[in-house]
This record gives sequence, structure tokens and C-alpha cells, in this order.
Amino acid sequence: MLLFCSQYADAAAHFDTQSRVFRLDGGDSTYAFGINAQDEIQTLYWGKRLPDNQQFPAAQASSGVASFDMPVNTTPQEYTGWGGALYVEPDLKITFPDGNRDLVLKYVSHNIEGDQIHVLMKDISRDVYVTLQYRMDEQTGILRRSADIENRTHQPFTIEQVASGTWNLPRGTDYRLHYVTGRWAAEGSLQEQPIHGGKTVLESRRGTTGAENNPWFMIDRTSSNDQDQGSVWFGALGWSGSWKISVEQNVLKDIRVTGGPNSFDFAYFLKSGEHFQTPYFYGGYSDQGLGGASRLLHRFEVDSLLPHAPSPRLRPVLYNSWEATTFNVNEASQMMLAEKAASLGVERFVMDDGWFGERKNDHAGLGDWYVNPQKFPHGLKPLIDKVHSLHMDFGLWVEPEMVNPDSDLYRKHPDWVLNFPGRPRTEGRNQLVLNLARPDVHDYVLQWLDKLLRDNDISFLKWDYNRNWAEPGWPSVPIEQQKNVYVDFTRNFYDILAQLRQKHPNVEIESCSGGGGRVDLGVMALTDEVWTSDNTDAYDRLFIQDGFTYAYTPAVMMAWVTDSPTWVNHRSLSLEYRFLSSMQGSLGIGADLNKWTPEDFATAKRMIADYKSIRETVQRGSLYRLMSPREGEQSVTESVSRDRKQAVAFAFLHSSSENYPFPRVYLRGLDENATYSLHLLTGKVAKNTPAAATGAYWMHHGFDVDLRGDFQAMAVTLERQ
Ligand code: DGJ
Repeated sequence: MLLFCSQYADAAAHFDTQSRVFRLDGGDSTYAFGINAQDEIQTLYWGKRLPDNQQFPAAQASSGVASFDMPVNTTPQEYTGWGGALYVEPDLKITFPDGNRDLVLKYVSHNIEGDQIHVLMKDISRDVYVTLQYRMDEQTGILRRSADIENRTHQPFTIEQVASGTWNLPRGTDYRLHYVTGRWAAEGSLQEQPIHGGKTVLESRRGTTGAENNPWFMIDRTSSNDQDQGSVWFGALGWSGSWKISVEQNVLKDIRVTGGPNSFDFAYFLKSGEHFQTPYFYGGYSDQGLGGASRLLHRFEVDSLLPHAPSPRLRPVLYNSWEATTFNVNEASQMMLAEKAASLGVERFVMDDGWFGERKNDHAGLGDWYVNPQKFPHGLKPLIDKVHSLHMDFGLWVEPEMVNPDSDLYRKHPDWVLNFPGRPRTEGRNQLVLNLARPDVHDYVLQWLDKLLRDNDISFLKWDYNRNWAEPGWPSVPIEQQKNVYVDFTRNFYDILAQLRQKHPNVEIESCSGGGGRVDLGVMALTDEVWTSDNTDAYDRLFIQDGFTYAYTPAVMMAWVTDSPTWVNHRSLSLEYRFLSSMQGSLGIGADLNKWTPEDFATAKRMIADYKSIRETVQRGSLYRLMSPREGEQSVTESVSRDRKQAVAFAFLHSSSENYPFPRVYLRGLDENATYSLHLLTGKVAKNTPAAATGAYWMHHGFDVDLRGDFQAMAVTLERQ
């Protein structure tokens, strides 16, 4: 490995040979770490950007605490092997064939190129090499971290725990952790808790990302923070398999956050000469509160992560058939819906579940990906042609990783599913999980998807995944390799997505897992949008979407307008309310249009046209949470376009009582001195609201909305004159 130092002023990455300090700068943040006298790699700074000429003192290891906590536990290391007297969460734990389990990593050399730093470490005696990889995003200061583990010994070894890296926060005692919990139809429930001694583990043991927790965190300080002010440190994992983020306060009350694949039931058998590349762990800093941290993540996702970044396509307004027809799809019913959808201004028509195999309900068909001849006697072509003739593109639902036991595929290949021989195969929604880690399963899935896209003019796949793992056995490989399934499954999932994208560059893909069960920065790098939740109740969605946008951009947050009352809460909401809730993300229609009145069509047509006039602002702009649905009877969000020429604000009143008026709305993010005219999209503002005023007026004086009653909503746009 090359060893050289880079000290040119405009590069994002530097190394100071005197102090042995590395430094990365991007956006408004600086990250610094150094090599201490013990040759450990130690975090020095993670925070607001410092002047270029600011030097850092050399890293100095902690002296530990008495004889019980040796220095390795209290030195804020970037990456620790489990060895010596380490009690905090390790980044890497290995068992060698001779039974030795001691791993102590020390600095060897480094390499800097542009915005990237690679630091090579090695065990003190064995040929285990670890390269710490850092890449700084110039615009947002979001740092991408990962590690490459290389087995240069002459025998295989087993990785029992591996992380992408550890983030160490500045010393402090008033930190607060923000994360989400959830489940099917209730994703994105925001939680916050002070960080005390001990460890909080956010995780999925489900085989995939899951909704119980989502792999991101934000940490702020209880003393001085709100939506738009104060320091926030945040991170998100790019991994769609089982994952773990542990937030730990050590014996000196220092906070360290370690993340990567989940270590529960984990093992990866690494042969001599092989490498193990960890997933990416992204981290960033904002001094503009939780809102500022979210906006940085959104900007990073749109400009640097999504396929086609920095110019991913704006999401077309789509129609999806699921809630209208469920499994009862056929040529005539879909054509009828397509005509009605097109009349509204819909741009993409998506046929959901039910079009293939013997699929009449969720008991059969998954795995048999031929077009059902009773439902579509002439194949998909007549429907696709019809959709195209209506000036929409065509999308199709698939669930490639699953199989129903009642399918030809399962009857032929019962060994293709995750299983432990002789044990039950637990079904969820009457289906089993195909073991995508198997090369033959990987090839089969890739082959039929590729053929489907070659044979049909399909622009969009909704890729669904409707259960989590059970009995995660892989009996056809040697015992010591069977747990590789946790990693190889996800890698093959990514590989199929990447190959499909490469073979069919115009096809877009949505990640869906019975709703938002597979949303993370790993899958987002390979898909164009995600399905947020099967819960389409427009009021519940205010909460789900609020939690979602802490980490993920509204640009990928699919939000359908469906029928009311919904199955979820039997709550009735006006069509305007449902539209405004969905227009905060990427708009879709999922209602049964056969039930709509002419008035419904007129309202929907108007609101879809309105959405198209603000879509770029919502999908690309800066999101401000002006009032949280969690904190009162109101909820208000605002999006401001990047050039600050347009803003749109959505206001929702959950329930009014005792004749109290709606609190005043103060906009944010406008140009103080420019004049903005206000336009009502729907609803009313107070009579004395000026038709035009300066950005300063809208932000500091604010305006009053006229909302009363239960489940009321309104929206305004502001246009710079
Ligand atoms: C779960 C998805 O979230 C729904 O939108 C729908 O596609 C069904 N699966 C179909 O089975």
C-alpha cells in the first residue's frame, strides 16, 4: 500500500505528517482522526467545519479507569478488533481455526486520493488486514465509512461480528437519541430518549431491513436543540439485511455508535485470500437542528445516492390497482381503470398483484411468473398498448424472493427456500422465502425478471417482499458456510437489482416490503422510490410521513390517495384532505375509480394539476416541519424550492375545540428581501392576509390559516415575484 501525504488546500482529505492527523472537510462539517502512540486510530473531531489552517493536537490514548477498564475501552477508536481487554462493542470479531479469538488492530499505512482516505490496519501478529475507507461528500459533509477485511493468512477464518465503523461523539452528558420504531401499517413512529449509561440497540434480526426499527439515528443535545437550531450528529446504514446500530455510553460517559450487519446468529466464513467488504455507514453533522440534519440527508440522497443522481427523474403521478381490484385483475378491469386514471392526468399505470400463475388470492402462484391465461388471454400486450395509447407508461408488481408452497416452482424445487432439514417451514402470508444466496436461485430470479422486461414494454417494477425470515438455514453448503446466508442473500438481491438496471436502463423500480419494511440507504442506491406504508389513511400518514422524512427524502416517499373511509381506522376524510396529505410526498392514486363521482373526478383532476406545479419543490426542495403532528392538534410542513422561487405549505387541523383558532404559521427558508405572492391551493387564510409580502414578513410576521372542525386541511403556494 502506498504511503503519501496530501496537503493541498482545496482537497477534502488531508494528512498532517507531524501530528499524524487525518482530516476530511465537506459542506459545513469537519471530521478528524489521528494515529496515537499505540498506533490505534482515534477519533479527534466530528462537528462544524473549522478553518482550513486549524491544526489538531496529535491523538492521545486514554489512560483507562483503574485496573478494570483498560485504555482500549475509553480511547475513542475508529475501529476495534475484539481482543486484549475490550468490553465495549467491537467492530470486528474473528475466530481462527486454531481456536484463537484475539484480534488487535494497529495502523500500518494510508492512502489519500481526492475526497477519500484509506487507512490500512493489521492484527499485531496474524495476517488479518483491515482497510478503513472514508469518503467525504463535498456538498453535504456526509461521510461514507466502510471497512474491507482481508484474509492473508493461509487458512479460512470466521468473522463473528463485523461493523462498518464506530462514530465517537464529543464528550458530553446531555445527549438525546432519536430513532424510529414501527410495524406493518404503522411505520416510522418517532422516538426520542436521553442517552444514559448502558447501550441502546436498534436492529433487525429479520433477514431484511424491517419496520420495527429503521437503520438510522440522530443524536442532539437536550439543552439547546430544536427543529432548526443546535448540533445534531446523525448516521444511516446502507444495508438491507439484518443490521444493528448500537448506541453506547461507556464508563467515562463517552458516546460511541457502532453499526453494520447484525451480529446475532452471524458468521461469515472468509477463505484465505478473500476480502469482506462491509456495507456503507453514512454519518453527518448539522448545526441547524433535526430539520437541518434531515435536509442534509435529503440533499445527499437526491444529489449523490439515488440512481441517476444528481438528476434523478421527478416521480410521475401514478395509479396503482391494488386497493381497487386486489387479486382480481384482468384485462377488462385494468383497461377501465387505466382510462379513468388517464382522464385525471395520471402519468403511470401500475398493475399490482394477481396477474401471474394461479394467483387468485395469497395462497398460490408466487414463483410461477407466467401471465395468467384466464385473466390475460392475449398476454400483457393489449393492456400495455392501451396504457400507452392513453399517454401513460406501464408498471407491474412482482415479488421475486418469495414462493407459495402451492406453486409449480416449489413443487419442483422445495430445496430452494430457507430451511433447516427436518424442521417446520414457518409460513407468513402462505409463503416461504427463496434462498437468494444460492447461485441457482439468484440466476433463476434474474433470468425471469430479465425476460419479463425484454418481452414486455414495462417502465416500472414494484418489487414487493411480504414477510420476514424464519428457519434461516442453507443446508446445501458446508456447515461452516451456512451463516453466510445473512450477507450473501442481500448481496445477491443488490446484484439482481444492479444487473436489471444495467440491462434495462429505462426501467424504474420501487422497493416495497408490505409497505415501508425495506427502506434504507442500501436499497435506495438501486431503486427509484419506496412504498411508505400499506396504511393509506391520510391522517395516519401525517405521522408515518413525518417519521419517514427524518431520514429519507420526500422525493422517494410514495403516497397514494385512496378511498375513504379506509380499512385502517374506518375514518372518513375529504378528498381534498387525502390529496393534501399525499401531495407532501410523491403523489399516487390508489382508489377504486369506479366508485368516484363526477365531482371527485373534477377535484382530483384539479389537485393533480396543482401537484404537478409544485412537484419539483416537494421532491427536490428543502423540507421544514413547522408544526409536528405529534405535538398538538395541528400539523404543518413547508417545502421551499432550491432556488427559493417557490414555497408550498400544507396545514392540517386534527380537531378544533373550545373555539381556539389555528396557531399562526411562520414560514422558513425564504429570501428575506424578495416579495412573494400567496396563492391558495385549497382552503382559506385569514381575511387580512396580504396578497404579497416580503419573505421576511411571511417568516417573521407569519399568517393565519382559517381552519376549524375535525380533519380539515389547506395548502398555499408562495411565488417569488
Ligand atoms: C403489499 C403491498 O404493500 C401492497 O401495496 C400490495 O402490493 C400487496 N402487497 C399485494 O400483495
